[in-house]
Amino acid sequence: MTAPSGPEAGRAHGPSGLQTPAGTVGPVRVVGTGLLGASVGLALRALGVDVVLHDPSRVTVLLARDLGAGRLPEPSDPPPALVVVAAPPDVTGDVVAAELAAYPDAVVTDVASVKGAVLAALTAAGADLTRYVGSHPMAGSERSGPTAARPDLFVGRPWVVVGTEASSPEAVLAVRTLVTDLGATPVMLDARVHDEAVAVVSHLPQVASSLVAARLRDADPAALDLAGQGLRDVTRIAAGDPALWTSILAANARAVLPALRATRDDLDGLVQALEQVVEATGPHAVPGGALGTLAAAVAAGNAGVARIPGKHGGARRAYDVVTVLVPDQPGELARLLGDVGAAGINLEELSLEHAPRQPVGLASIAVLPGLGTTLEAELTGRGWTVAG
Ligand SMILES: NC(=O)c1ccc[n+]([C@@H]2O[C@H](COP(=O)([O-])OP(=O)(O)OC[C@H]3O[C@@H](n4cnc5c(N)ncnc54)[C@H](O)[C@@H]3O)[C@@H](O)[C@H]2O)c1
Repeated sequence: MTAPSGPEAGRAHGPSGLQTPAGTVGPVRVVGTGLLGASVGLALRALGVDVVLHDPSRVTVLLARDLGAGRLPEPSDPPPALVVVAAPPDVTGDVVAAELAAYPDAVVTDVASVKGAVLAALTAAGADLTRYVGSHPMAGSERSGPTAARPDLFVGRPWVVVGTEASSPEAVLAVRTLVTDLGATPVMLDARVHDEAVAVVSHLPQVASSLVAARLRDADPAALDLAGQGLRDVTRIAAGDPALWTSILAANARAVLPALRATRDDLDGLVQALEQVVEATGPHAVPGGALGTLAAAVAAGNAGVARIPGKHGGARRAYDVVTVLVPDQPGELARLLGDVGAAGINLEELSLEHAPRQPVGLASIAVLPGLGTTLEAELTGRGWTVAG
């Protein structure tokens, strides 16, 4: 597969399906053709950019090629203009250093989830930092490998770009252009700020999810039958790859530790409060402060979750939520959404929950405050059962 030439070169249907001119200049060499690398390749190929693939696993690189993420290198190839390293974080520094040395005119970026450790490895190796600009797309999946790759993985997502004082403006521009070509929004941060941010918004949530999910290993199957959306929400990312997450947590240990220690302190407080409740001889004997500690923990969570940006990055709003029973049959959800539209009410958020072993789902429809009662009446009038 070769890149188109002539007037159509670099102009194609991009990851978002729009006719987009590619600003990224090829050939682009993708090193590590798993989920992230193959997704970059698929998106660039959709823009008509020439992508050359490399991975130490022969099967992985051939699979990425067969999925359309790029082609294998040829001896007659020109050197790459841009190298994207999408290898595990613990080897990323070494791989970036090797790519900078092998291609002295190329800009090199990486997509590792941790930036400080990569930069430290490159500095220690004496690498040419003028051509290196780290990055981290805030997009991904709990699945790994090229079969999980998608060309639209980055569309609409923030993508952190981590230049250093040594980075040349041309290198920063090349990486920013890659990011926007792939439909993402560049966010410029320095490595330390990035690492501290992802420790709180990504790495601690992964640990918390894994720890909660681990409690389910010995749970009674009858208990698991009671599982609702809350458990699914909290444990979804617990399906992440252990090898990748070990590498991420180890590489960002310095930033993850304070967040983990603070969480441990909160947990210790909760354990102590619950012990006091259990040891009390009656409701009036519960020591002062114990119940307050429980309430304070939940209230602190309320305050934290309210700070997560809502729709379009704006402030999170309190919506009215109408929950509707949806028969588990083809076309029923589409019919429900059609009826919401026919009521002239905009749907702000939608979540679906499957009642275990029952042929119905629960669709929770969030609408602007004040519209819930109207929507409930409209849907009931159209024959839907509203659960609350
Ligand atoms: N998975 C996510 O959600 C996500 C999100 C953002 C960033 N990242 C980062 O992207 C990078 C890749 O993650 P992924 O999810 O694509 O993992 P993946 O396991 O799907 O792919 C990693 C690939 O790197 C290859 N590899 C291993 N050692 C290598 C080496 N020395 N040189 C070159 N390639 C090597 C592997 O063979 C594999 O194909 C990681 O640094 C990760 O931190 C992942």
